[in-house]
Amino acid sequence: MGNQVYEGKCASCHGPQLQGLIGPNLTDEFWIHGQGTRLDIMKVISEGVADKGMPPWGPLLKKDEMLSLTALVHSKKGSSPPNPKLPQGQKAQN
Ligand code: HEC
Repeated sequence: MGNQVYEGKCASCHGPQLQGLIGPNLTDEFWIHGQGTRLDIMKVISEGVADKGMPPWGPLLKKDEMLSLTALVHSKKGSSPPNPKLPQGQKAQN
């Protein structure tokens, strides 16, 4: 289910393999918001970043969709897709 939601709502900005496009690469060790923990990922998906073009998805997603998406993003860490967007943010400390 995470995959379907991702393809429908996220891939246009983060790329079909999460490699980054308009939005940042979600598979590398660099994060603009937090350290890439499940909690950090869920918070930014839910609240968005209004002034940077990341929409707040909290009001639009069911709870299980949010959890599946969070798990999907978290699981793709280190997946090294082709043509990644250059790192943005800080390298995670953990
Ligand atoms: C309209 C384009 C757009 C869409 C659609 C979008 N995002 Fe984003 N996203 C962004 C941008 C731009 C940022 C960077 C925000 C910043 O610079 O602070 C971002 C940031 C993020 C981050 C934090 C990355 C980091 O380095 O801290 C996560 C996680 C994320 N998005 C997940 C998602 C998920 C999951 C979806 C689908 C539900 C989604 N995004 C849909 C544009 C988008």
